[in-house]
Amino acid sequence: MINFEKNAEIDLTMKNLILSMVDMNNYLTDILNYTDSVLTPQSEKELIKILKKYKVPHEGLKYDLKRLTNNPYYKNIKFENVLTDTVWYENSIIKKRTLMNMDFHKTLGKYLFHYHPLGYFDSDINLQVLKDKNRVWMSPAISEITSMNDGLEKGHGKCLTLGLGIGVLPYLWLLKDDVESVTIVEFNKDVIDLFEKYIKPQFKTNKKLEIIHGNAMDYFTEDFLKKFDYVYADFWESTEDGLALYTKLMEKKVNLSHVDYWIEDSILYSLKNIIAPYLFTLYENKSISTFISSLDNQSRTLAKKVNKYFKRNTDIVTTEEELLYFIHNKKVLREILAQ
Ligand SMILES: C[S@@+](CC[C@H](N)C(=O)[O-])C[C@H]1O[C@@H](n2cnc3c(N)ncnc32)[C@H](O)[C@@H]1O
Repeated sequence: MINFEKNAEIDLTMKNLILSMVDMNNYLTDILNYTDSVLTPQSEKELIKILKKYKVPHEGLKYDLKRLTNNPYYKNIKFENVLTDTVWYENSIIKKRTLMNMDFHKTLGKYLFHYHPLGYFDSDINLQVLKDKNRVWMSPAISEITSMNDGLEKGHGKCLTLGLGIGVLPYLWLLKDDVESVTIVEFNKDVIDLFEKYIKPQFKTNKKLEIIHGNAMDYFTEDFLKKFDYVYADFWESTEDGLALYTKLMEKKVNLSHVDYWIEDSILYSLKNIIAPYLFTLYENKSISTFISSLDNQSRTLAKKVNKYFKRNTDIVTTEEELLYFIHNKKVLREILAQ
């Protein structure tokens, strides 16, 4: 079992980790009434006060519309409202001054506080959206595009993506000189048919674009993934459904460095939020089984994986750096989920 030296540095780090989780919860509660609502000048001032209180960076909340309209997908690809049995394309108007997430997830400090950059546009915008009855699958919103940026930049040669959506990433990949072909695995035939009919004809490219109708889980094998130079998994809607699906991918123990996962850092925060109080419980010599049984179902499953991992570990943690390694190191986090 992992062990700790009782010293002032570890004491303080444990406290800071737990405090940052408390801060995080308070921050989310404080901004809840403002997100997705139209800001008045008064509510904008109140919100800026909150951001200052938590030291969240904000260079003004008003975003230049060009950040959206300059994006080639937003500029060039258009579609009308279309309905199928399972999904539909929808043109939705977002009212000016509506406060939105402009990106996914930025960390602040070295503990567990993080935030999503917030902002609004000063004019109404039209967003073309792919929805099903429960969720918004994809739109060319700034947060979607910036959160895929890493995958966009790393894409080269033969690219594979898991999850078609409205083909934003495939479109942007195909514009890159160093991308040779794009393959997509998508499990909803209606999503594929809509794309083939309304969007693909607008892709002015001679490069190979192949869509495989299938479940991404079945294609997540070393043999298949090795056929590509770069792979990007993006078949979840947010961190909420993403955690379970990402965990299933990790359990497959495919270890390839050319595979990336949309919003992985955000997804891993849920796990970090279990590891920190788990290690604190151990440090305080309190009961791990009481801690685990106090959690909801999904967290309990994760906490059991955390427990399994640290039971096998024989390290003695003596410094803040060593403790933070077990909270933030991606290899550790992936290994925990893979069990
Ligand atoms: C967030 S969207 C992908 C957005 C895409 N990257 C883009 O640029 O437009 C997720 C897509 O994954 C699909 N999907 C969900 N679960 C899947 C699965 N198990 N296998 C394959 N596709 C899946 C959904 O139908 C949806 O089209």
